[in-house]
Parts: sequence; C-alpha cells; structure tokens
Amino acid sequence: MNIAVDTAVILQDKGLRLQLPSGKAGYFNYYWLRDNCPSSFSATTRERSFDIFHLAEAPVARSARLDGDALVIDWAHEAHSTRMPLAWLESYAEGKRRADPADLPRRAWYGDHYDSVARFTHADLLSDKAKAQAWIEAIIVEGVSIVTGMPDTNEALTDLVNVMGQVRPTFFGDYFDVRTHINPTNTAYTSAALELHTDTPAEEHAPGVQFLHMRANTVEGGRNLFGDGVAAANDFRQIYPEGFRLLSTIDVPFFCEHETYDMRSYQRVIELDQHGEVSGLTISQHMLDLIDLPQEVLDDYYPAFCRFGKLLQSDKYIMRFTLQASECIVFDNHRIVHGRAAYSATSGSRYLRGCYADRAEMRSTYRALVSEGRFK
Ligand SMILES: [Fe+2]
Repeated sequence: MNIAVDTAVILQDKGLRLQLPSGKAGYFNYYWLRDNCPSSFSATTRERSFDIFHLAEAPVARSARLDGDALVIDWAHEAHSTRMPLAWLESYAEGKRRADPADLPRRAWYGDHYDSVARFTHADLLSDKAKAQAWIEAIIVEGVSIVTGMPDTNEALTDLVNVMGQVRPTFFGDYFDVRTHINPTNTAYTSAALELHTDTPAEEHAPGVQFLHMRANTVEGGRNLFGDGVAAANDFRQIYPEGFRLLSTIDVPFFCEHETYDMRSYQRVIELDQHGEVSGLTISQHMLDLIDLPQEVLDDYYPAFCRFGKLLQSDKYIMRFTLQASECIVFDNHRIVHGRAAYSATSGSRYLRGCYADRAEMRSTYRALVSEGRFK
C-alpha cells in the first residue's frame, strides 16, 4: 500500500516517509509517531500519560500532511490527530541516541595537574547554581575537583553531596571514617601505604562519585596520590594495543570478605563508554580476587595487567599532595585512581570522612542546570 497523500508525505504500511527541513528524507514508524504525539505527555508530570497498550488496533495513518513547521496525522481506527514538530522528527530521523548535554568529552590530565585542579568553595557551591554547574562539569570532564572551606562538621559533607544528588550507600553504610583502627577490616584503616585503586570494586555497581573530606591531618607522611585512569589507559592503548584489548574485554573477579559479608563481582579493568572511548578503570590490588580464568589465558592477561599497573604508577600520571583539613576532594570513582603513602600514626591525628554519590544522578542534576527539558 503506497498512497501519495501529499507530495511531501508518503504513507506506507508500517510508517510514513517525508522530506525533513534539512532536505533529507525521513521514515517514521506509526507506533512511534502515535506513542510520541505531544498530547501523549502531561505538562504537569512531564511523563507520558498515553498508554499505547490500550489501543484496540495497530496505529495507522488515515492521512498526513505538512503544515508549517509540523507534520499533521489523522489516525485511522481512532478519533485522534497528531501534530508533531518537524524539529522533533529531524532529531530522531537517523535512529541515533538523543543528544545529551552531560555527555561531555573527557580531558585527560597528568601528574602536574595539582595546581590546575578545579577548586570551589563550600559556601559558593551551596549558594550559587552557576558554580554548582561548573563544579559538576569539572567532575564530568576532568574527573576531579577540590572543595575548600569545608566546615568541620558531618553536615557539611552531606550538604555538599546534596548539591549534586543524594548520598549513595555501599555495603559499609552511608559514610566511612578513615583513621587507624585497632582491629582493621580494611587496609585503609591502617597507617600502611595504600596502593592506587578505585573503591568497592567488589560491588556489582561500584559507586560513581567519591567524596573525601579531610577533617584533621597533622601526621607525618600520608601524602595523597591521585591519577587519571583515562590518561594512563589511553596511553596504554597506543603503547600496547593487545594488552589494552585484554584489559578492556575480559572480566576479572573482585572480592571483599569478612565476618558478615562476602561481596563479589566481575569487572573489566579498563572500562569503555558507548563511543568506545576509555571511561575509566576498576582496579584494586587489595580487592582483586584470585583470578579464576583458564591459566593459559593468564599467560597473556597477567603480563598485560602488570604492564598497565606499572604504567599507572609512573610519575607521569600521579599527583602527590597533602589534602589539608577543611578540604574535600570529589572525584569519579570509576576513573580516578587514588592511594596514600604510609604515615606515622603516632605523629599526630588524621581523620578523613567520606561517602559517595551516583554518577547518573550527578549528570541528571547537570542536565537540569544547563537545559530546560522538553515538556515544559
Ligand atoms: Fe579508597
């Protein structure tokens, strides 16, 4: 059934063809057109209020025409017409993902980045939406930021997280306190060096954004180490493509086990996004489980893994500095590796309080800050 109704709109069995404002030809499925009729969405809830499952028959156009900047469809089988902006149609014509203002290209950084780390004051972020937008943008693009002027309270950290979202618990709870413990359940709770890692890799979905609020720091040693996993993995991709392939395609096990928990997951050490670009890492020597792959696979995997681990530790990538009391470092836990040098537990006090937020929620807040949305 090919019936020419309008020279610019051709009705077919399952959809219609038309010429788009760009001059390109477009094809649209009738279900899609009916489901996404602007009248399907509530201006109040900004959700779809139309339920396509309740249509008695498959949607088919009875007639269709162009009218100014819109396509107008009269539907067969129901007393309904749709007026669809051509601009909407154009943006969905090629079946590509919807443009996302939070999908910003990452900017890799190196060991000399400390002076350039994006810095914001706690007071500004809580009161100024433009500053909040710039802060989140820095975390999306560079993966790291430092917030200064943090009040020495528990609430100060929660208030900061709430600028981008909610506190995201892990199986350790909502918050964690890093200081030396008498019976440590975690290397972080000792004064030993902590190798470069991402946090809680044993969780199926490790938390996305990490907050570390330094509350007191008068010890000798304990310098903070931070590196950009994207910078190191992008270099590794150039230097050792086969190793990169192994680390970005093979899942390896991580664990976290003690008296009352036995958390396990499988993760790729190098993570890629939907564009095939490196989005980050999952790496933690103290939580890497005994790798349960066939031993022959390890003949290739382990050398690649160690070569990458050595590369990641090199001075080229690692910022070394001392996070001061009243500062909070906020970083992408899937991208930025962090660690700490050993410190002398008797030389003073060191107290770091931390928590996490969700990356998707951070991006949601960013989109809401930079765009108005479609259904106002
Ligand atoms: Fe950590």
